[in-house]
Amino acid sequence: MAYETILVETRGKVGLITLNRPKALNALNSALLDEVNQALDAFEADNGVGCIVVTGSEKAFAAGADIKEMASLTYPQIYLDNQFGGWDRVANRRKPMIAAVAGFALGGGCEFAMMCDFIIAADTAKFGQPEIKLGVMPGMGGTQRLTRLIGKAKAMEMCLTGRMMDAAEAERSGLVARVVPAADLLNEALKTAETIASMSLPIVMMTKETINRADEMFLAEGIRFERRVFHAMFATADQKEGMAAFVEKRAPEFKDR
Ligand code: CAA
Repeated sequence: MAYETILVETRGKVGLITLNRPKALNALNSALLDEVNQALDAFEADNGVGCIVVTGSEKAFAAGADIKEMASLTYPQIYLDNQFGGWDRVANRRKPMIAAVAGFALGGGCEFAMMCDFIIAADTAKFGQPEIKLGVMPGMGGTQRLTRLIGKAKAMEMCLTGRMMDAAEAERSGLVARVVPAADLLNEALKTAETIASMSLPIVMMTKETINRADEMFLAEGIRFERRVFHAMFATADQKEGMAAFVEKRAPEFKDR
C-alpha cells in the first residue's frame, strides 16, 4: 500500500506509523487522516500486531490541523462534512496506541497524541492548543481530553492563551507518561510497545477498553458538543481573519463583537 502523507511499517509485533508531511510540519490534512485510518485498519486486522506507535519528525509530531485546507471553509460546509468526524475512528481503536512525540504537538497534533493511549515525549516536545490565536478553539477533542488529563486550571490557561507547555511540565501535569532524551525517543517507544505486544492481545485490549470506561461515557457527549461549537465558529469573521492572517504571515485583527 503506497501512502503519501505517512510512512507505515511493521517491526516485529509493533505497527509503526510516521507522520510524513515535513514541509507542513506534519499538519493534519484530510488525506493524512484517511491514510492514518487505512493504516490502523490494516494493523487492527493483523493478529500479528499487538501494539501501534505513532510518531512524527524531530521538529514536529504535528503542528495541528491543516490551517490552509480549513481557512476558507464556511459553516455549512464544515457542518455538512462533519469536519474532524473521522478522528473518532482513530480515537476508538481497540489495539493499544502509543504516541512518541518530539518537537511541536500543537492543536490537532496535541489532540492526536492525546487520542493515543499514552504519550512518551522527547525532552524537546512542546505541547499546546493555540487555536484561540486563529479565532477558533480545539476541535479534535482537546477541550475534553486535555481537561481530563491535566485538570481545568491548566487546560483553561493553555486553551485561552495558546501558550505551549514543555516536556517537563507536561510530565508533571500528567499529560505524558514519560520523558526521554530526544535521541532515544523512537527506541524507547518501540521497546515499550514490544513489551505490551508480548502480553496476551485480548487481555491487553480488554484492559484498554476497561480503563477507557473511566471517563468515556461523559467524554462522548463533550466531544459532540465541542464539534458543534467548533463548526459554528466558521460562521464568524474572526475565524476567517485568524486563519487568513496565519496563511499570510501577519498578525490577526479580530473584530467580531
Ligand atoms: N497548517 C498548515 N500549515 C502549517 C501548519 C498548520 N497547522 N503549521 C505549520 N505549517 C506550515 C507553515 O505554514 C509553513 O509553510 P510555508 O513554508 O509554506 O510557509 C511550514 O509549515 C513551516 O512552518 P513555519 O515556517 O511556521 O515554522 P516555524 O518553525 O517558524 O514555526 C510553529 C513553527 C510555531 C509550529 C508554526 O508553524 C505554527 O504556529 N503553526 C501553527 C500552529 C497552530 O496554530 N496549530 C493549530 C492549528 S488549528 C487546529 O489544530 C484545530 C483543531 O483543534 C483540530
